[in-house]
Amino acid sequence: MPAMTSTPAAREFSTIGVIGLGTMGAGIAEVFARNGYTVVGAEQNDEGVARGRQHLEHSTGRAVKRGKMTESEQAELLGRITLTTEMKDLADADLVVEAVVESLETKKAIFRALDDIVSPDAILATNTSSLSVTEISTANARPGRVVGVHFFNPAPVQNLVEIVRTVVTEPAVLAEVQALLQRLGKNPVVCGDKAGFIANTLLFGYLNHAVSMYEHKYASREDIDAAMRFGCGYPMGPLALLDLIGLDTAYEILDTMYKQGRDRLHAPAPILKQYVTAGLLGRKSGRGFYTYE
Ligand code: CAA
Repeated sequence: MPAMTSTPAAREFSTIGVIGLGTMGAGIAEVFARNGYTVVGAEQNDEGVARGRQHLEHSTGRAVKRGKMTESEQAELLGRITLTTEMKDLADADLVVEAVVESLETKKAIFRALDDIVSPDAILATNTSSLSVTEISTANARPGRVVGVHFFNPAPVQNLVEIVRTVVTEPAVLAEVQALLQRLGKNPVVCGDKAGFIANTLLFGYLNHAVSMYEHKYASREDIDAAMRFGCGYPMGPLALLDLIGLDTAYEILDTMYKQGRDRLHAPAPILKQYVTAGLLGRKSGRGFYTYE
């Protein structure tokens, strides 16, 4: 009798690990929990856990306020998410999504540590926006089971996820992740491992140009944003979008893209660095190009 083999794309995932519970990590945890998955969210300390819990409560609370979810559905969703400061609590995860700060060394250390924690057939994913998925994957003993899964902000709303394959990603792993993301109602696209992937490569030159225009007092922030909203149908203008993304994150993405391609389009506008140094990080710090309550 031939050996029974399962179709790779039909793989069942039940527990999802998320490492890092900032804006993106908490949003990703919410997406999985909304779709019935058990989620273990890991942070490095109690403050990180508290911040993650606040993100989750705020985002799901907004859905309750808008009548999109009942309070008991919110409680059920939050009940599917366990928050921890112990990486070993990720042991049962079928998929781990790492969403910590854009630091290659930090990400590599996490992938190295995961070797001894998760089962050999677990899939490991990084939500990096611009770092090399290949380099992150080689810190791990099974680079073939590593992919990039790049969600967009806000993760519960934006349907795009870029799946980044490296030259050694196993085709079955790619198919399994693709099928999983489709089950979440996302639109996955697949691309190779180059800083910026598809969307940020196209988006960040435009965002940087808008910052330059503002820096040179060519037009007011409101008018720059209004031009793109009302003239081009974008849901947000570029400066408001940068505040949403986080100016520190945006700076890191531009800087990495610039260092890789050396094209002037991605040389971060100087004022961006100044804002970051001054702690004006956008929505998350209460002030960026705009001020938030
Ligand atoms: N978390 C969860 N849900 C959110 C949310 C958040 N932070 N912000 C908005 N929402 C939800 C609202 O609850 C609402 O849901 P329902 O329709 O179910 O009621 C829906 O989104 C629309 O929200 P609003 O009516 O409050 O506001 P809006 O219509 O102006 O939409 C927006 C807000 C979704 C952010 C929209 O302006 C938008 O799509 N902006 C562009 C965002 C974008 O381009 N993101 C990509 C950034 S680049 C990136 O992320 C890549 C990277 O590597 C940095």
